[in-house]
Amino acid sequence: MIMLTGLQKIYHGGTGAVKAIDNVSLEIEQGEIFGIIGKSGAGKSTLIRCINLLERPTAGRVLVDGQDMTSLSEVELREARKSMGMIFQHFNLLSSRTVLGNVAFPLEIAGISRTEREKKAVPLLELVGLTDKKDVYPAQLSGGQKQRVGIARALASQPKVLLCDEATSALDPQTTESILALLKDINIKLGLTIVLITHEMHVIKAICDKVAVIEGGQLVETGKVFDVFTNPQSATAQDFIKAVVNNKVPDTLAALLSDAPVAGGNLVMRLSFFGDATNEPVIAGLIRRFAVDVNIISGNIDHLQDTPYGTLLIELSGKDEDIQNALIYLQDLDLRTEVIGYVARHAHAAG
Ligand SMILES: Nc1ncnc2c1ncn2[C@@H]1O[C@H](COP(=O)(O)OP(=O)(O)OP(=O)(O)O)[C@@H](O)[C@H]1O
Ligand SMILES: [Mg+2]
Repeated sequence: MIMLTGLQKIYHGGTGAVKAIDNVSLEIEQGEIFGIIGKSGAGKSTLIRCINLLERPTAGRVLVDGQDMTSLSEVELREARKSMGMIFQHFNLLSSRTVLGNVAFPLEIAGISRTEREKKAVPLLELVGLTDKKDVYPAQLSGGQKQRVGIARALASQPKVLLCDEATSALDPQTTESILALLKDINIKLGLTIVLITHEMHVIKAICDKVAVIEGGQLVETGKVFDVFTNPQSATAQDFIKAVVNNKVPDTLAALLSDAPVAGGNLVMRLSFFGDATNEPVIAGLIRRFAVDVNIISGNIDHLQDTPYGTLLIELSGKDEDIQNALIYLQDLDLRTEVIGYVARHAHAAG
C-alpha cells in the first residue's frame, strides 16, 4: 500500500543542514494500523508529511498504491492527495464554519454541489458520533469532539489512507481512548489503512498492528506490535516499552545478579506468555514436577489488543540439577523464557 525506500529529508536552515529523515525504508500494508513512534525531534512529522508529499523528500521514493508520489506534477499530486486524509494534533478546523461546514469543506474545494456535500457529510457525522453537533461552531466543542470533526473531514474525500500526526496528544487519557477506539472502528468498518505517529507507547499498544521506532531520523526497529512489545531489540524500543509494561528487575536484585551460574545459587528468569498460554498453570506445573521453589518477584497480565500477554519475573531455588531440569522444562513450553541471571542463595530473601 505504502512503500518508502531510502527516504531522506534534509532541511537547510539558518543553523546549517538538518538530516530529519535518514535513509528510512518501510512498507505499510493495506488495511493495517501502522504506528510510528519516536521522541520529540526524531523526525515523525517529517516522515508522515513525506508520505503525502507535504514535505518533498531530498532523496528516496514514496510509493502509494504503486504510484511514485515524487514523480507527480502539482496537479497530479493534488489528485493523489485526495486518497490520503490527514488529522492533526491541534485539529486545524475552520472556526468560521459549522461542524457540517468543516466536514463538507474538502468537498466544496473539489467543486461538489451543496446537496451532494451534505449527503456525504451527514453520514460521516453519524460515523464519528456528532450528528447532534451538526450546526455548532468549533469553539463550542471539546477537544475530543473537535478531533471527531477532524476525522470526519479527513474521510470526506473517501481516502484509502488516513495519516494521523499526534492525533491524541492534546487530549486527556479518557478522550484519547475514545478517539483511538473510533480510529480502530473506522479501520475495521471502512478497511482504511491508518498511519499514526505518536511519542506515546500506550497509543501503539491500544490499536496498532505494526510499529516502527525512529530515532534521529533513522528507523531503529520495526515489526508486529506483539513482537516488538514482547521482544524489543533496540534500546529505544525497550525504553518506550518500559512506560507501559512493567517487567523490570528491581534495582536491589539487579545489583546482586551475575551472568554465570553460582553454585548452589538461585536462577532469576522472566517468562512471557501470549494468547492461550496465559491460561496454562505454568508455575503449578513447575512445582509439581521438580523439587524447586518458585518466588514470584513481579508479574502482570495485560492485553495487546485482544490477545492476552503476561510476564512473570521469578526466582527458582533448589538443587542445581533440579533448577536446570526446570529450566529445560520451561524452555520447552509455549512461552518465552529469558534467563536474567543468578544470585547466591542467601542473598535474596523469598517474599
Ligand atoms: N521546516 C524545518 N526547517 C528546518 N528544520 C526542521 C523543519 N522541520 C523540522 N525540522 C527539524 O527536523 C527534525 C525532525 O523534526 P520533526 O518535526 O519531524 O520531529 P518530530 O518527531 O515530529 O518531533 P515532535 O515530537 O516534537 O513533533 C528536528 O530536528 C527539527 O528541528
Ligand atoms: Mg511532530
